[in-house]
Amino acid sequence: MKKYDRITPEGTRDLLFKECETQRNIINVLRDTFEKRMYHEVITPGFEFYDVFSSSSMYFPQESIYKLMDNKGRLLAMRPDSTIPIARLTATKLKGHAMPLRLYYAQRVYRQQPELRGRSSEIMQMGIELIGLSTFESDIEVLTTGIEALTSCCADDFRIELGHIGIFKLLMDDLGATPDQKESIHSLILSKNYAGLSDMLEQFPESQTAEILNELPRLFGGKEAFEKAREVFNGYDAKLLFMLTYLERIYQGLLERNLTDKVMIDLGLVNQAEYYSSLIFRGYIASAGEPVLSGGRYDELFKDFGESQPAIGFGINVDQLAAGLLKVENSESKYASEGIKPVKGNIRIALTKGRLEKSIVDLFEEVGYDCENLREKGRKLLLSIPNKNIEVVLAKAADVITYVEHGVCDVGIVGKDTIIESGGTFYEVLDLGFGKCKFALAVPKGSDFYSGYSTKRIATKYPKVASTYFESKGMDVEVIKIEGSVELAPLLSLADGIVDIVETGTTLKENGLEVIEEIRNVSARLIVNVASMKLKKAEIDMLISDIQDKVKE
Ligand code: PRP
Repeated sequence: MKKYDRITPEGTRDLLFKECETQRNIINVLRDTFEKRMYHEVITPGFEFYDVFSSSSMYFPQESIYKLMDNKGRLLAMRPDSTIPIARLTATKLKGHAMPLRLYYAQRVYRQQPELRGRSSEIMQMGIELIGLSTFESDIEVLTTGIEALTSCCADDFRIELGHIGIFKLLMDDLGATPDQKESIHSLILSKNYAGLSDMLEQFPESQTAEILNELPRLFGGKEAFEKAREVFNGYDAKLLFMLTYLERIYQGLLERNLTDKVMIDLGLVNQAEYYSSLIFRGYIASAGEPVLSGGRYDELFKDFGESQPAIGFGINVDQLAAGLLKVENSESKYASEGIKPVKGNIRIALTKGRLEKSIVDLFEEVGYDCENLREKGRKLLLSIPNKNIEVVLAKAADVITYVEHGVCDVGIVGKDTIIESGGTFYEVLDLGFGKCKFALAVPKGSDFYSGYSTKRIATKYPKVASTYFESKGMDVEVIKIEGSVELAPLLSLADGIVDIVETGTTLKENGLEVIEEIRNVSARLIVNVASMKLKKAEIDMLISDIQDKVKE
């Protein structure tokens, strides 16, 4: 019997009626915007030779690319991006064409996503590429086209943030870190994990480069961020100041176009595709938890195709934009039919139920939040903090991450253990200092875990943490996922050991187990959705500083 003839693969979906109409309207509006500015449409093949993307393997991890084979056994790739095929096309079909070239595209891209995270693997993308110019005016042209595109789709409800990847690249070149250290620093800056970044950079004592990198994720906001950056960069390589000054010119150039409250900067914006070389930017709308627009200058990419051309462009995720606009349209009627009254303009926080709950409520009370509803919650899951206009969601730890990542909650409080296991894209801004425990490898008391040749079995609620730990030791183990009371597995001879969190050590002791290796410390963290951080900056800054004051005490 056929099993898969009635469903679509994970990450894909059918679009019906209203969804098609919304998507088509957006495509038409964007097409008009681009054509009025004299951009011309190109369409590249849905799949290309894998080599087109593999020469740029650092841009797209190979596991994220869908691959197929042609009839000669050659490897093909479903396009994960439009900029690289357009660079290929420009370097070949359009070689020798008069520059500059103004191109736009409206086509789907395909990227394998982690499973069960609600992410699309097939994305409708529209964007522009301005090739052959590297002037200030060309940067402003592309940015204002992006802003115009968002304005025509969602009126006023958006933000654009600017960054300069050259600043980060220069500092990383100067630091003299190993590739592993570089990767960690990159992801700590990206997630605004201030505490983790400081710890990491302690490995580079007396280094001004490390001091600047430590400040980089904090350098975001409005005009004041430039002043702060100037102080931080003082006395360092003049190139850094030069790049900052250029970014400020761009920022001023946009302000002159009446975009004062729409544009902000973030020098910690470092997660763009590796091919970007200087100016980078992202666009957010209030109803989507992720950036809907993303772009930048990529003056080096053409070298991969044997050419040399400066270029800048951006892509808009049409699906995200459409979903965001539909969400706004649907939300009022949905709330009305479910009898829930949304509080406008507030912050929604997801809190972890159980283990961390009491400490969180204690902390909130210390900060001055009225927690009566939280203390008397009964079985309610959606509660309010009346004196602060804050809405609270109580959820299981992994779900806190899901809600924050998708932007349905602005902020979350969750253990670092869950963050490491689940991963995800959000800012991890504060170590709250409670919920302290450690990941450890534990075995039955007195047993010799490393003896013998047989592959060891490890039971755990944290399969990713366990696999990564043993991979780092270069040791093959068989990991078995257990949902709870993992200490039982070795007692019942299902496993040779466990990887789990240990707080007081009582559970291990009472079940005849002992820690033989400590893996890392964990504690509760405050996490923030990336779009909320930009769209509700004042409210979220206030919340962070209220909480930070208490954590320091
Ligand atoms: C955690 C952990 C250990 C125990 C450790 O389980 O998985 O079993 O707590 O705490 P201790 O060192 O203070 O004894 P949890 O209580 O969250 O329950 P679960 O195993 O059912 O998930």
